[in-house]
Amino acid sequence: MANTLANAMVTTRTVVPVEVTGPLRALSFEHPPGTFAPTPATMIALRAVAQHWHVLEGTGLDWGSGVGCLAIAAAKIPAVRLVVGLEIVPANVGAARQNATLNGVAERVSFLKADSFDACDHEGRAVLQTLEGRARFILANPPSSSPDGDGFEYRRVVLRGAHRFLEPGGIVFLNISEQYGSERVLGLTRLAPAFRHDGVLATTDYVAFDMTRPDLLLDVETYAAEERRGGSAYAFRNPVEPARPMTAVEALAQFRRTGQSPLSRWQVHRFTYLPP
Ligand SMILES: C[S@@+](CC[C@H](N)C(=O)[O-])C[C@H]1O[C@@H](n2cnc3c(N)ncnc32)[C@H](O)[C@@H]1O
Repeated sequence: MANTLANAMVTTRTVVPVEVTGPLRALSFEHPPGTFAPTPATMIALRAVAQHWHVLEGTGLDWGSGVGCLAIAAAKIPAVRLVVGLEIVPANVGAARQNATLNGVAERVSFLKADSFDACDHEGRAVLQTLEGRARFILANPPSSSPDGDGFEYRRVVLRGAHRFLEPGGIVFLNISEQYGSERVLGLTRLAPAFRHDGVLATTDYVAFDMTRPDLLLDVETYAAEERRGGSAYAFRNPVEPARPMTAVEALAQFRRTGQSPLSRWQVHRFTYLPP
């Protein structure tokens, strides 16, 4: 018990191999207790940055920067001048700054405490003001939103808010895992019509949407409640027969019956800002 407790207090380091980061070389991220630990969604976002490094240049933002993984990866690209990370949890902001130093990009990143696109202090607000209409890209691996809704709201928040910062032609790399379904993805461009949806930039194979993780169990419960309210169906796959689609209500019932998690794919989509 004491050992488990001691281990829980230890800072963990994730080393992301070159197989994921490609030309950006290996990256390491420390995540002390109480900070965000990189997940499979982080890894696919890193892969998207690494595989599409040639379209990232100038200044960018990282919405919900956690311990800094995406901002730091982008800052490794020679044509990228500055990446500003926006993060609501102060401990994550502190860890991201340390990770920037650890990866040798401290002069090319800046991490601000922010609630969405709004910085929490005067200095941060001044930095963000200088970026309005000047950013070339926004990276975002947002969390699931509140269990009262459909879990997708932070994606809408990112795309709705992105136009304030992007210059025309600017791009958004947005994590949207497959179970959200195409209807919700198409809904994003109805909500923010100045954006063109360019499709999926990076994807995993079908993998278990691991419902033994309490956060992912809560996600599926959120989705199932949304389906019961009449919201559009989620798009999981059945682990027993992967070609068969599965709604969230079905996935939840199967997990409760058998302990089996449904399948989904972690994915990153690209949007381009093309104002009229
Ligand atoms: C899924 S994590 C991704 C972290 C990091 N980008 C990565 O890929 O590893 C989402 C992050 O968004 C942060 N976050 C949640 N709500 C936020 C908000 N309103 N404004 C800024 N950051 C937020 C969380 O604290 C968390 O660090």
